[in-house]
Amino acid sequence: MDVVRTPLIAGNWKMNLDHLQAIAFVQKLAWSLKDHDYSADKVEVAVFPPFTDLRSVQTLIAADKLPLHLGAQDLSPHDSGAHTGDISGAFLAQLNCQYVIIGHSERRADHHEADELVAAKTLAAVKHGLIPVVCVGETAEDRDTHGAAKIPVEQLRVVLEAISQDSDYVIAYEPVWAIGSGTPATADEAEEVCAVLRDTIANSHGQERAESTRILYGGSVKSGNIAGFMKRPNVDGALVGGASLDVDEFSAIVRFPDHVTLD
Ligand code: 13P
Repeated sequence: MDVVRTPLIAGNWKMNLDHLQAIAFVQKLAWSLKDHDYSADKVEVAVFPPFTDLRSVQTLIAADKLPLHLGAQDLSPHDSGAHTGDISGAFLAQLNCQYVIIGHSERRADHHEADELVAAKTLAAVKHGLIPVVCVGETAEDRDTHGAAKIPVEQLRVVLEAISQDSDYVIAYEPVWAIGSGTPATADEAEEVCAVLRDTIANSHGQERAESTRILYGGSVKSGNIAGFMKRPNVDGALVGGASLDVDEFSAIVRFPDHVTLD
């Protein structure tokens, strides 16, 4: 029997919107989704605000029973203690975060996060009951030297070795050259790498886990190109950066089943 993977559209706000702007944004997003008869059964939506916004957004989601999931953009590999500036997965779980992004290429670059640290953070997320959204992806140079899939597969393997096969996780394939560039991968390119990533999961964690795991594409996703990605069998959603900061655009991305576009 085929496993049904509910598509996930995830908005990574990066370092944008303070907590007051976040409240206004989430209210508008919820109205827009409601106006368009959004159904959470068909597509899951998650927002990933900065740490300082989480409490405000959590309170709003709970008070108004909004059909939105909440995630953080990073976490510490440690549970607590002398780690100034870090945030424990335990704290995120207390704020009803369901998800946490780990190993985003901007953190790998800005904070020199290596695969081993990404693996340790993933383990910490799982330990605290959070679903890690583990980001992998190659630079343009990697792609030209090794082809697109080699580096993402290597990054994924390190993480898969660290966590047990019954852990729940999401993978985000984000080619670094496509992030914020306005030049997304083609749907075929995304599909090709996502298929190899699924095989990698099958080899490490078994076929069942591979079939139930959602693999997202990220990098210059917009309402005009989302449907092309979502038509591919191994792309189960999107991790959206810039376009997640525009209510109408993000709401239109969430409604991808209604607006199939030509590739
Ligand atoms: P853009 O959608 O702005 O290219 O960013 C993608 C991204 O990095 C999401 O994590």
